[in-house]
Amino acid sequence: MHGALRKEIATYEGRTTHSAAAHKRALQRIPLGVASNYRHYEPYPLFVKDGQGSHIHDIDGNEYIDHNLCFGALMAGHCHPAVVKAVEQKLHEGTTFGMPHDQEWELAEEICDRYPVEMVRFGSSGTEVTMHACRIARAATGRDKIIKFEGAYHGLHDTALVSVKPKAEDWGDPEAPTSVPGGGGVPKASLANVAVAVFNNLASVERRFKENPGQIAAVILEPILMNVGLCLPRPGFLEGLRKLCDANGALLIFDEVKTGAKLAWGGASDFFGVKPDIICLAKSIGGGLPLGAFGASRAVMELISQHKVFHGGTYNTNRVAMSAGLAMFREVLTRENYVHVGKLSKKLAEGYRAIVKKSGLQAYVASAGVNGALMLYPQEIRNYRDWTKIDVDLWRHYWFAMVNRGVLAQPYWWDEQWTISVQHTEADIDKHLAVFEEVAPALAHAQQERGVAPVGAAGH
Ligand SMILES: Cc1ncc(COP(=O)(O)O)c(C=O)c1O
Repeated sequence: MHGALRKEIATYEGRTTHSAAAHKRALQRIPLGVASNYRHYEPYPLFVKDGQGSHIHDIDGNEYIDHNLCFGALMAGHCHPAVVKAVEQKLHEGTTFGMPHDQEWELAEEICDRYPVEMVRFGSSGTEVTMHACRIARAATGRDKIIKFEGAYHGLHDTALVSVKPKAEDWGDPEAPTSVPGGGGVPKASLANVAVAVFNNLASVERRFKENPGQIAAVILEPILMNVGLCLPRPGFLEGLRKLCDANGALLIFDEVKTGAKLAWGGASDFFGVKPDIICLAKSIGGGLPLGAFGASRAVMELISQHKVFHGGTYNTNRVAMSAGLAMFREVLTRENYVHVGKLSKKLAEGYRAIVKKSGLQAYVASAGVNGALMLYPQEIRNYRDWTKIDVDLWRHYWFAMVNRGVLAQPYWWDEQWTISVQHTEADIDKHLAVFEEVAPALAHAQQERGVAPVGAAGH
C-alpha cells in the first residue's frame, strides 16, 4: 500500500469512529457485519444515518454527495417527493394482499409503452427476474444451456453465479472461458448448463453455439457491461448477438436491471436500436422500493398463462412497491428529467476528462446515461480480463480521498460506477469536480511512483 493511500485511510478512520464501532458490533451476529457481501470493504464500511435528495449522512454526522445511490437503484435520489407521497398513501390502505389489483395492469401498461415487450410479470429484485427470464427462455426453446459473459453479474441464482469474478488461475482460454462457480454451493450441473463467452467478442459467442448445437436456450447480457466499471459494447456487437441468436433459435435476454431506467427513457434496446426477446428490469424502476419485472412477447409470456412455466411470489406487486414504481414511470423517469440528468452527466464526465488530462493521470472516463466511472487504465477496456489490470490501490486512493472530502463518488469497489439522480444539482456536480480536482494530482503522483504497470485483481 502506498503512503498516500495509507494516509487517506487513516483520515477515514479518524472521521468515522462510530462506523467502526457499529461494524464491530454487527460482526458478532452478521457475517462480514453486512447484509450483502458487496457492502463490505476494508477497513470497515460507512454506516449510514439518513439521506435526502442527493445527500446522505453517516452515523458520525459526516455529509456526502451520494453517487452510490444504493448501487444505482436510486435514480430518483433519496426521498423523492413523488415516491414518498405515493408510498405514504398506500401504507394507510394496506400494503400487501396476495390478490390482484389495478396497479398491476397500470404498471404493465407503462412498461409495455416504454420497452419492446407485450406482457410483463413482476418480482421484487433483479436476481428474481433474471432467474425467471432464464427459466422461461429454457421453457420456450426446450433447451437447458445459457450463454453468459465472463465478468457479468446477473444476480445470485445458480445460473447467474458463474464466472462473475473468476480468478486468473481458474478462468482458462481467453476465447473460451471456463465456467467458474461464483463461490461454494453452485451445483456442477448448473456450471455445465452455462457456457461462458467474452464480452465484445462475437467469435467467442459463435464458438459456443457451434460447440453446443441445438442446446443454447438464450444469451443473457447487460447491454453495457457494468460489473467492470463501465464497458460499452463495440459497434456491431449487440446487432451481431441478435443475428447469432436468430440463426441458432436462441432468445436474447437483456438484463436491464441497471440500464433500463438509467441509460435512457426507453432503456438500452431503445438507445442501441437492438430488440431483445426478454427484458429484465429492477433497481431504479422501484424508486428505492424492491421492485423487479420481466417482459417479453405475448408468445413467450403466454407460457405462464398456459401453465407451462411457473411463476409466483408472495410479495409480487405489493402495493407499496407498485405505487413507487408508478410514481417513477409517471413522475420521475420523465423525458424532462432525462434532459436534466443528461446535462449533469455530460458536465461530470467532461469535467473529469479535463482534470485527468491536466493532472497527467493515465486513466480515462467511461460514461453512458447517468452512469460513469474513472477507469484507472490507459486504454479503454473491452471485457472483464482487461478490467482485472486496473490498479486497485490507486482506485482505493481515489475512493477514500473523495469520501474524506464529502463525495461518495460511487459505491465502494472498482467494478462499480457513479449514478446521478434526478435530485442532483449543478452545485453537486461543481462540488464533485472541485474535490476531484484537488485529489487528482496526488493520484497522478502516486501512479507515477507506483509505475503505470497494472496490478492484477479479481475484486470481491
Ligand atoms: C445487471 C444486474 N443484474 C441483476 C442484479 C441483481 O439485482 P438484485 O441485487 O436486485 O438481486 C444486479 C445487481 O446489482 C445487476 O447489476
